[in-house]
Amino acid sequence: MNYQKILEEIEKQIQTELPKGEVASYIPALKNVQANDFAMSIKLLDGTTYNIGCFDKKFSIQSISKVFTFAMALKLYGKDLYQRVWYEPSGNPFNSLVQLEYEKGIPRNPFINAGAIVTTDSLLSYYKDKNLTFNEINQFINNLSKQNISFDEEIFKSELESGYRNQALASLMKSFKNIDNPIEETLETYFKHCSLMMSCEELASAMLFLANHGVDPLTNEEFITAPKAKRVNALMLTCGHYDASGDFAFHVGLPGKSGVGGGIVAIVPKKMAICVYSPRLNKKGNSHSGTKALELFTTLTELSIF
Ligand code: DON
Repeated sequence: MNYQKILEEIEKQIQTELPKGEVASYIPALKNVQANDFAMSIKLLDGTTYNIGCFDKKFSIQSISKVFTFAMALKLYGKDLYQRVWYEPSGNPFNSLVQLEYEKGIPRNPFINAGAIVTTDSLLSYYKDKNLTFNEINQFINNLSKQNISFDEEIFKSELESGYRNQALASLMKSFKNIDNPIEETLETYFKHCSLMMSCEELASAMLFLANHGVDPLTNEEFITAPKAKRVNALMLTCGHYDASGDFAFHVGLPGKSGVGGGIVAIVPKKMAICVYSPRLNKKGNSHSGTKALELFTTLTELSIF
């Protein structure tokens, strides 16, 4: 298949969508982006890469980081992790508090904010120290992407100062004894991994292990076992877009994970990893044009898993 031509076709067709939606503003520093930017990268299992648009521009990965922290926590704790965070779709927005109260502080899945705060807390309990924990997360992603990535101090501080909902979620879970460490340390680590900066090309590389049963196809390094990679992909399909996960499965039909920075990663099992970037978001907090571009991609290539 001529993937470069397909990317060019997508870029052409997406132009009218680019002005639609709004960039995230509830984390003030996220507003400082070129709102109409668009980029897409595809990485095949043999390492061949196809790019379009500003594919090497770094953006805030935000909730996409939850895929990495979930993979790390699953690797360390196995099934025990599910005592603290379930694996069902929430049908609620990513920062919702209501369900958490009547479900006694156990988040529905590791991709909503509450669930990701719990997986980060579990990493903090394992590594004991907040700086070491963040370094381990950073190193895990460096090893996957084969790049040295870093976080954006301004975005991190902006969320630290304005993350009232996350503070509420963490406090509520602490009251149910589902946060083991001091709330400030857990949230600081969570905000730091959300503010990591990566390009489309780097994210497509970093996600390739999930298209290949947990093994980097280029180095043969196993990052997680095949059964665990299966779980990560299943959760990306059912929970990766929060209360728009059904919509994403319906229109795109791939395991995917979005972030409010405007990125979306998607996996074509046994074939490739994809990343798309476009910072204007739809009402559910997912990249508007990114979702449309991925829909065009599976329509043009017939590579939806369905
Ligand atoms: O905790 C937050 O609200 C952000 N750091 C991440 C949220 C996010 O990316 C939701 N994605 N669509």
